[in-house]
Amino acid sequence: MNVLILGSGGREHTFAWKLAQSSKLKQLFIAPGNAGTAKVGTNIAIAATDFDAIKNFVLTNSINMVVVGPEDPLVKGIHDYFLADTQLKNIPVIGPQKDGAQLEGSKEFSKIFMEKYGVPTAKYKSFTQSNLTQGHAFLESLTPPYVLKADGLAAGKGVLILTDLVEAKKELSLMIEDQKFGAASSTVVIEEFLKGIELSVFVLTDGNSYKILPSAKDYKRIGEGDTGLNTGGMGAISPVPFATADFIKKVEEQVVIPTINGLKKEGINYKGFIFIGLMNDNGNPSVVEYNVRMGDPETEVVIPRIKSDLLDLFEGVANQTLHEKSFEVDNRIATTVMLVSGGYPEDYEKGKIMTGFDQVKDSIAFHAGTKQEGKNIVTNGGRVLAITSFGTDIKDALSKSFANAEKINYDKKYYRKDIGFDLAY
Ligand code: AMP
Ligand code: GLY
Repeated sequence: MNVLILGSGGREHTFAWKLAQSSKLKQLFIAPGNAGTAKVGTNIAIAATDFDAIKNFVLTNSINMVVVGPEDPLVKGIHDYFLADTQLKNIPVIGPQKDGAQLEGSKEFSKIFMEKYGVPTAKYKSFTQSNLTQGHAFLESLTPPYVLKADGLAAGKGVLILTDLVEAKKELSLMIEDQKFGAASSTVVIEEFLKGIELSVFVLTDGNSYKILPSAKDYKRIGEGDTGLNTGGMGAISPVPFATADFIKKVEEQVVIPTINGLKKEGINYKGFIFIGLMNDNGNPSVVEYNVRMGDPETEVVIPRIKSDLLDLFEGVANQTLHEKSFEVDNRIATTVMLVSGGYPEDYEKGKIMTGFDQVKDSIAFHAGTKQEGKNIVTNGGRVLAITSFGTDIKDALSKSFANAEKINYDKKYYRKDIGFDLAY
């Protein structure tokens, strides 16, 4: 098969690395990709949201499957675009159509969906310009902390957690009236604060059956001890030690099955990944959010632990034969440590020459924000490289990721040296 992956981060390099191991793969392309994906496939200079250019490439290069990494093309309807086109409609797209992508594209949609199908989640109310005064009154009725969420996509920045009532009211007005997050915050969901410890569970579904992928925990804040600004993710660990078989069984019964059944009842033919962000409160799961794609950097620890052929699984998704596919997971622990550009997640410089790749031993360096410039690999984003390692336990895996993080060099390199700090190991 000829496969096209859309996206350019660590998640997409990991997909490319894994798909390249499949005996079913003939040619692999990544649009636009990075310096890492270029080592396992061919990069093409097309943006993941340029649907017409993607169509042209797919037809001229006999592409048999399109795997979508990020949420943007899904929420914008790449899958619908394929289905509506007579030349593309039989080429499978891994990733939901627009209707399913609303699980991530609209917080309000996902809250209504969870309530309707009995999926445990924080209580909420949503507000717009027309009932902003009630929004302020609703905040007064709650106890802090206050959780305010922009309804639409806001590049991971649309959630505010505030302890002060006056500030919460001010922020609510800024979101709705002053469009703090653009049109994404013209509707705001206010919800109850959930206690507990977060983790993520990933599901691959063909719309009928599903596979529950390994659990993972990511570290979102820039600073050690989970301090400072939110980032895309600074590291991840899989599996999560407190996600016991018992807990995962609860997630399956209370979240996964009602979600898959709910999608079917809504007439949503969902083919792709569902990323379930969860709070574990004393052994009980509650859904913080759905995403309609894999997480990044969670992919860098989850996908390497899947022993089965990922392309074979994707074929099962496309043909709705996922239930026939074998699914095996590596028992070892996987960790990843993200190297970022100094200054990230605020302003940072790109184009720093990177060295030390040939020194990396016992880890896989998944490229996130890199590009090839002549003979050099240079930094090309905030998150630069995810260093994934396997181990017999968390400590063993982390020691390899950290040792290799030291061997890669570029100006203003930064990474968190405390990934996993909150887990007993
Ligand atoms: P989201 O974009 O919905 O994942 O929210 C971003 C982050 O905010 C989550 O990863 C949580 O750490 C936090 N968060 C969101 N909703 C809640 C909630 N109801 N209670 C506590 N923390 C939350
Ligand atoms: N690491 C969190 C995300 O991919 O949304």
